[in-house]
Amino acid sequence: MKHFINLKDIPAKDLRKILIDAKKRKQKRSNLNTLQLDKDAPLKGKLLIQMFEKSSLRTRLSFYLAIKQLGGGTITLRSNELHLGEGGESLEDTAKILSTYGDGFMLRTDSDQKVESFKKYLSIPIINGLSPSSHPTQVLSDIFTVEEIKKKPISKLNIAWIGDSNNVLNSLIAASVKFSFKLSIGCPKKYEPKKFVLNWVKDQKKKIYIFNDAKKAASNADVIFSDKVISLNDKVNRKNKVKDFKNYRVSKKLMSYAKKDCTFLHCLPRGSEVDDAVFRSKNSKVWLQALNRAHVQKSILLYCFGKLR
Ligand code: CP
Ligand code: NVA
Repeated sequence: MKHFINLKDIPAKDLRKILIDAKKRKQKRSNLNTLQLDKDAPLKGKLLIQMFEKSSLRTRLSFYLAIKQLGGGTITLRSNELHLGEGGESLEDTAKILSTYGDGFMLRTDSDQKVESFKKYLSIPIINGLSPSSHPTQVLSDIFTVEEIKKKPISKLNIAWIGDSNNVLNSLIAASVKFSFKLSIGCPKKYEPKKFVLNWVKDQKKKIYIFNDAKKAASNADVIFSDKVISLNDKVNRKNKVKDFKNYRVSKKLMSYAKKDCTFLHCLPRGSEVDDAVFRSKNSKVWLQALNRAHVQKSILLYCFGKLR
């Protein structure tokens, strides 16, 4: 049984296999309507249970489309409506019940420990739909989007991240190691990636480039990523943090340091970290990025269900 919790724990060849499958499936259904099934309907009769402890628009909808197009179905649980959320039932018992009724479990939570505990007690695959330390389905899908737009392997591109060292960046760092691309990060000193992340990169004998200057990080980039300064799990002084990032806003001026055809990507929702002029520019591919979540998550589901060919 394969889980999908952190990119760093998944072999690079499996990640590549997922992307190849997603590309084929996306091409094959170009003339199909939203809820028409892929011809082979490989997850016919399967139930994906989704649980959100935090808000979500894109992850919720894209997993709905993903499992439906593969022939399966989904139900979405809100943690505050469960006995577990009210403290009246153990996680172990909840996990056993989920495994009894469902075939896969997608969890968005503010606790990495909870993902691990579910993994321990479930007898069905678990997919991390965002935790404080990672957002793997988002980032694998973003690799797909970059390669689709640039029409070349991401290993041949300069990727820049301007913003906070959050869950999405942690997954992007893991991806930079797995897919061997150059990653330059622009963030204030105080908000650099955590030691355990940097140590892991070192252990893999790989390198990432960190600048406390947005212009240097953006220089010569093929793609610039950004994300909200304040994440869902942030328990910080919001005003101070936003102020700390005032020189890390993605503006037209900052984009001018990158390559002329530099693509702007953002997982959404957005805050003040990007100017409207960039967000709405022709170089911004954020809507395609959101759409591709559904395509890539289909192949992630197939990987977890042992059906990836
Ligand atoms: N990008 C993303 O995960 O969006 P949601 O929080 O809306 O799911
Ligand atoms: N880093 C953001 C991503 C939202 C999809 C957060 O955790 O809130």
